[in-house]
Amino acid sequence: MREEDLYHHEPVLLKEVLYWLKVEKDKFYVDGTLGLGGHTRAILEAGAPTAKVYAFEWNENTLKIARERLKEYRDRLKIIPKSFVYIKEEIEKEGILVDGVLLDLGLSSFLIEGSGRGFTFQKDEPLDMRMSLELDLKAEDILNTFSEEELFRVFSRGEVPRAKSFVRYLLRKRKEKPFKTTFDLVSAVREFFKPPKRKEKDLLAVVFQALRIEVNHELENLERALKEVPEVLKSGGRFVIISFHSLEDRLVKRAFSSDQRLFVLTKKPIVPSPEEMKRNPRARSAKMRVAERR
Ligand SMILES: C[S@@+](CC[C@H](N)C(=O)[O-])C[C@H]1O[C@@H](n2cnc3c(N)ncnc32)[C@H](O)[C@@H]1O
Repeated sequence: MREEDLYHHEPVLLKEVLYWLKVEKDKFYVDGTLGLGGHTRAILEAGAPTAKVYAFEWNENTLKIARERLKEYRDRLKIIPKSFVYIKEEIEKEGILVDGVLLDLGLSSFLIEGSGRGFTFQKDEPLDMRMSLELDLKAEDILNTFSEEELFRVFSRGEVPRAKSFVRYLLRKRKEKPFKTTFDLVSAVREFFKPPKRKEKDLLAVVFQALRIEVNHELENLERALKEVPEVLKSGGRFVIISFHSLEDRLVKRAFSSDQRLFVLTKKPIVPSPEEMKRNPRARSAKMRVAERR
C-alpha cells in the first residue's frame, strides 16, 4: 500500500456530522476520536475563524501524524493524548461546557493497514490489537492466558457462533502451541468452523472483532462516555455517535433513549448514502445517532 493511501482516511458521514453538530463560529466542540483528523479539520473549517476543538486520541502514531497535519489550527485546536473516557475530566478542567461532542468509533484505515498490530486477518502480524500502548493486555495474552469462562465471555459477547465449543477448541490448541500471530488464529478458526468460502470472511471478522473489543475495553469505554459526556454539554448541545457494529449501536440507542438529560433527535440511525458506501467501503456499516442535551 502506498504511504499516501495509508494516511488517507475518508471521514465517514462528514456532511451529516457537520449538520447535526450545528457547527458554527464561536462554539466549542469535542472530537473524542481524532484519528488522522478528517472530522476535526472539517469542524474547524466550518466554524472558522473562531470555533474551537478539543480532540482526544490514544494511539501514539496517529497522534504524531494528526499533530503535524493540523498544525495550522494550533490556536483553535487542543489535542489531548488520552482516551475519550477522560472527556468529562478534561473539559471540566477547562472550566467550560461544549456545544457538541463527536465519537467516530471503530478503526481507522491507518490502524488496520499501517499499525502492524494484527487488526486484520488478511496479514500475518503479531496478535496485539492494542489501539494504545497504555493498554495492558494484547490479544495473544488473552488467547493464551484467559480461563475458559473468561474466553467464553469474550466470544459470546462478540456474538461468535458456537462460542462454547470454539473456546474449548482454542484451549486445546494453545496447549499444543501458544497463539502468536494473526494467522495462528485464522488457522484455528478455519479448522474449527470449516466455513464455506463465502462465509469465511464474516466469521473471521466477528472473531477478530470480539477480541479487539476486549483488548481495547471498547464497550466499557463507550458506556462511560455515554454516562459522562452529557455532563459537559451545554443545553442544546449535541452528542453525535457513529458506530460500526450492532453491539455499539445497541448501547448507544438504549443509553440515549433512557437518559433523562437527553432528547433523541434521530429515531432511526442515519446511514451513509449509496454513493458514500460505494466510494468508501469502510462506511458501509456506519450508523449515526444524535441526541441533544435538554
Ligand atoms: C474511526 S477512527 C476516527 C477517524 C476520524 N474521525 C477522522 O476523520 O480521521 C477512530 C480513532 O479513534 C481512536 N480511538 C478509539 N478508541 C478511542 C478511545 N477510547 N479514546 C481515544 N481515541 C480512541 C482510534 O485510535 C482511531 O484513531
